[in-house]
Amino acid sequence: MELMGMRKKKSSLFKYIEQLNADRHWGRVLDAGTGAASLRWLTGLSTTSWTAVTASDHMAGQSREAIPGDMREQDRIVVGNWTDDQLLSGQVFDTVLLDYLIGAIDGFAPYWQEMVFDRLRPHVGGRLYVTGLEPYVPFPAITDAGKMVREIGCLRDACLLMAGERPYREFPIQWVLRKMSLAGFTIIEAKHFPIVFRERFINAQLDMCRDRLQRFGAPALSDAMLDHVESLRERALALCARENGLAHGADYVVAAEPA
Ligand SMILES: C[S@@+](CC[C@H](N)C(=O)[O-])C[C@H]1O[C@@H](n2cnc3c(N)ncnc32)[C@H](O)[C@@H]1O
Repeated sequence: MELMGMRKKKSSLFKYIEQLNADRHWGRVLDAGTGAASLRWLTGLSTTSWTAVTASDHMAGQSREAIPGDMREQDRIVVGNWTDDQLLSGQVFDTVLLDYLIGAIDGFAPYWQEMVFDRLRPHVGGRLYVTGLEPYVPFPAITDAGKMVREIGCLRDACLLMAGERPYREFPIQWVLRKMSLAGFTIIEAKHFPIVFRERFINAQLDMCRDRLQRFGAPALSDAMLDHVESLRERALALCARENGLAHGADYVVAAEPA
């Protein structure tokens, strides 16, 4: 919902994972929170088979559409929730990917994030890769670009809440490292990737706000919010053009193996 497919950064994260994987076999791969980007990437790798899990029928459809003709007999897209103990019960994979899964959990299993590494641990036979976004909404920003990105994020989350939806909740890398260690993983690498947000991010986030306005149930507030959304868009696009992008925050990649 929030950022997927909107940043070129994504491909540098996948490139980095390929670098970390080096000449290890990908083998049987589990994409534990799938979507168009991770599945497109996976289908380009030399895997024995892949299983892609999503909690959303809609995301399953989008993912399938993203890889026309690339699904082999042994590959599967599974709609299910990791809170279900029976999901992929007893199945072990050589490589497991959690690509922006943690931030999305609040939408499907609120307050369950702390369980995710314990739940997935038995499925990891070889290597685990985690990508995520450092949370930026709750923290004050210093630069003009940072303040702008944060203002957009705050407005987006406010609009989602007002429309009765649950925004994503991102977790910092320190939390991920701690929880992975507690769940019995040895950390191999952890790296940040600074983000430069572009026009596409600004428009996608503010379009998301616009889409939610009619569900506020308060017409006067919706009208005022529409003005606010469009004036923020104008300011953000102008700053983005002046600074050649809005540099703020970071994505991260963590690689680990069962201890
Ligand atoms: C942000 S999207 C992932 C992005 C994706 N890797 C891509 O390439 O765009 C998060 C994914 O995690 C899934 N997800 C979130 N919480 C889940 C849960 N509790 N059980 C199973 N899947 C979950 C969502 O359904 C969605 O498919």
